[in-house]
Amino acid sequence: MGKSTVSVNLAAALARLGRRVGLLDADIYGPSAPTMFGIEGEPTFDADKRLNPMEAWGVKVMSIGFIVEPGTANIWRGPMASSALRSLMNANWGTEGEPLDVLVIDLPPGTGDIQLTLVQKLKIDGVVIVSTPQEIALVDARRAATMFDKTGAPILGVVENMAWFADSSGAKVPIFGSGGARAEAGRLGVPLLAEIPIELALREACDAGRPLVATVEDGPAVRAFLDLAKAVG
Ligand SMILES: Nc1ncnc2c1ncn2[C@@H]1O[C@H](COP(=O)(O)OP(=O)(O)O)[C@@H](O)[C@H]1O
Ligand SMILES: [Mg+2]
Repeated sequence: MGKSTVSVNLAAALARLGRRVGLLDADIYGPSAPTMFGIEGEPTFDADKRLNPMEAWGVKVMSIGFIVEPGTANIWRGPMASSALRSLMNANWGTEGEPLDVLVIDLPPGTGDIQLTLVQKLKIDGVVIVSTPQEIALVDARRAATMFDKTGAPILGVVENMAWFADSSGAKVPIFGSGGARAEAGRLGVPLLAEIPIELALREACDAGRPLVATVEDGPAVRAFLDLAKAVG
């Protein structure tokens, strides 16, 4: 858990560092970007009939959630979801004179049609695996790593989300355990890129549609996202 939270705050952190950044919400069945960025309304089309991303917090955002009602995509079969994803990928992300520096792609869990469509159609510069300390031991993260590895998309590293909760004395309580992500990163031969604490403000920011890193100057989670942005972007 935390893939969308990390994607959104990584994109906002890159924007804060002055990069031209886009976020492609590739979770066709469960889009998060409209809520997490607080974006309402429908995207327009450009002269080439491509979708124009919606802009918020310095990030160009594209999500199926802008186009269909929540739940509509749930009954789509794989090919329909893949075709929707292609329209989002082909959006008007930038011009020749003003291209994006970075496109962050928020993926659903697993290794299904969506992931395959992406690796077949795009040249992925790097993959970041996000997991809670508990989940990292699950085969899912490992299967994803293997799949991306096979397609030649380099794994940049692992982000441990919900790494700890700071109690009232400031002591770090490892609610979901500790050490798992570092060990898994070691097994994959990649760095542990960031450890994101559990923060009430982070949860509230997600729900309120304002990326924490775009609205709060400093703090443990904000620093972790900014360091992650510097490491990958
Ligand atoms: N480090 C964190 N601290 C507090 N709340 C978090 C944290 N990470 C995730 N959450 C909460 O959990 C919810 C689900 O996380 P999300 O990023 O959507 O997971 P995924 O995309 O992997 O399904 C978020 O909306 C947010 O409210
Ligand atoms: Mg998600």
